[in-house]
Amino acid sequence: MISTCYNTLMKKIYLAPLEGVTDSIYRNTFMKYYGGVDKVYTPFISPNSTYKFTTREFKDIDPDKNDPYITVPQIITNNSEHFLWAVNEISKLGFKEINFNLGCPSGTVVAKKKGSGLLFYPEELDKLLYEVFQHIDGKCNISIKTRLGKHEPDEFYEILDIYNKYPISELTIHPRIQSDFYREPIRNEFFEYAIEHSKAPVVFNGEIKTVSDILEFEDSHDTVNAIMIGRGLIANPELALWYKTNDEKDSYDTSKFKDFHNSLLEQYINVLSGDKPVLHRMKEFWAYWQVNFPDQEKTIKKIRKSNKLIEYKDLVTAMLK
Ligand SMILES: Cc1cc2nc3c(=O)[nH]c(=O)nc-3n(C[C@H](O)[C@H](O)[C@H](O)COP(=O)(O)O)c2cc1C
Repeated sequence: MISTCYNTLMKKIYLAPLEGVTDSIYRNTFMKYYGGVDKVYTPFISPNSTYKFTTREFKDIDPDKNDPYITVPQIITNNSEHFLWAVNEISKLGFKEINFNLGCPSGTVVAKKKGSGLLFYPEELDKLLYEVFQHIDGKCNISIKTRLGKHEPDEFYEILDIYNKYPISELTIHPRIQSDFYREPIRNEFFEYAIEHSKAPVVFNGEIKTVSDILEFEDSHDTVNAIMIGRGLIANPELALWYKTNDEKDSYDTSKFKDFHNSLLEQYINVLSGDKPVLHRMKEFWAYWQVNFPDQEKTIKKIRKSNKLIEYKDLVTAMLK
């Protein structure tokens, strides 16, 4: 377990789950080179009637590749039996917390009444949580990551009343509704409502990109203990560290970033076969990293168009020299 001594008045920082980005390779490499976060969440696993993890799902929560004290596996489902099966299996692997995804806005997920799609069916949500908490036997903590609702933010009042009936260990709120996706402005007033009315400790998530954003949040939210950061922390992997060490820099350390990048690249070359899947993976990261290279627009464009690993490596090496 990685333990670092920080000012305890500081907010805890959690690395948000991002499907296609924050897999175990990314999480471990991020922790090795940067860290500064208190928990990392896996992208969601979908337990179903096969009662088996897919090979890919298992690899991502394999206890040999994850620190169970900081890694929180996330599940998405609308079925209490599948939920309980996953809790049983995941807690046997040594994890202390499982996060329930009630926020995913993707059309295919929502159409199956999962993620933020389940928020529009409060009775079903309530029944599912009732059945889960009836049988959970304290195996591990259950936390929730939620949006405010599906169509209207006012749905949140009833949803929060439901959450308050159960011993949820932490409630992470992304204060948007499903149809806002990741674009529309954050609906802060509903987060403030949650601070006042949630029985579970609340965690804020949304559009935190700089240390100033964290400090501004910190100034006005002394009762909130943690912030979950996704895209801002992928774009600038030093963000949490700068905040925790009280040392914001103008730009990040390119030489360290180069090592981080090369380590990710090497690991993906080892586990994926062929240039294409490796490039696909690396280009996903560049969608976030590119903001740090504002005067390298042409090279970034070439990186994102590259079809061969050798071409990709030459471009990146020249840029990060
Ligand atoms: C590409 C992508 C994949 C995501 N995958 C997941 C996921 O698997 N589980 C989840 O709870 N949230 C997922 N999210 C949402 C993020 O965890 C986070 O809530 C969102 O990006 C807002 O936080 P941010 O503004 O700090 O990025 C995803 C977001 C993006 C952009």
